[in-house]
Amino acid sequence: MNDLIRYFEENRGGLIHKWWHYFEIYDRHFARFRNRDLRLREFGVSHGGSLQMWKAYLGERAVIYGVDINPACKALEEDRIHIRIGDQGDRRFLRDLRKELPPLDIVIDDGGHTMDQQIATFEVFFPHVAPDGLYVCEDLHTSYRPKFGGGVRRRGTFIEYSKALIDALHGWHSRQPRKLSVTDFTRTTHSLHFYDSMLVIEKRPREAPVHVRSGTPRIPSRGQPPARPFLGRLLDRWVKLTGSL
Ligand SMILES: C[S@@+](CC[C@H](N)C(=O)[O-])C[C@H]1O[C@@H](n2cnc3c(N)ncnc32)[C@H](O)[C@@H]1O
Repeated sequence: MNDLIRYFEENRGGLIHKWWHYFEIYDRHFARFRNRDLRLREFGVSHGGSLQMWKAYLGERAVIYGVDINPACKALEEDRIHIRIGDQGDRRFLRDLRKELPPLDIVIDDGGHTMDQQIATFEVFFPHVAPDGLYVCEDLHTSYRPKFGGGVRRRGTFIEYSKALIDALHGWHSRQPRKLSVTDFTRTTHSLHFYDSMLVIEKRPREAPVHVRSGTPRIPSRGQPPARPFLGRLLDRWVKLTGSL
């Protein structure tokens, strides 16, 4: 059992509302951030339970920043938990919010879950994640729910939007620069981790990828004559030079 599950099961704080399988994913990606100076911002406060959980799990040097549209959430502030009230679908609000803090180590979007909100929050806040930080978007199943603006392969859903991020990750390999080229996303993203209803994006500065080799070829390459062992190659050379064996 990981520490987040233990916390959740023994929770005496505010209500926490998450999908069960998320806890393994959080621990997998968040463990390396424990007990270090850290800023985490979560969109979607509700009863403040998840903010308290991050604070307990990440340790004394973590400061947690929540955002919610519901003004009542402001009352849930406590030591190392700060809450701002606003609409994550409003890009002007997001841009002002971004200016308030230096880059964040972890950003979690667990707010209203509509397509516009998820895309706006990603576009404004992803560039504001620290170079080795994480961006997490939760409840991606709303991309399949008409109530949230979703539908299978429907244009404009966050899932469709995030498929283009897979292309952007591969910018260096494109031979069609008008369609795909290297962007800031390519240079700053190490990996995209898709889970049921959750996307975790790990940032890390990247150079153009290089491929490398070691060891000896042991089977013929397709379309090439079989590789000859050293003595065989010496013999070939002798025959070539002298014209005889
Ligand atoms: C799923 S709950 C958050 C649950 C909480 N993170 C937890 O794990 O317990 C979603 C929250 O998002 C807030 N919300 C909905 N629309 C929003 C918006 N446009 N901007 C910011 N917050 C919003 C709701 O008020 C609600 O408190």
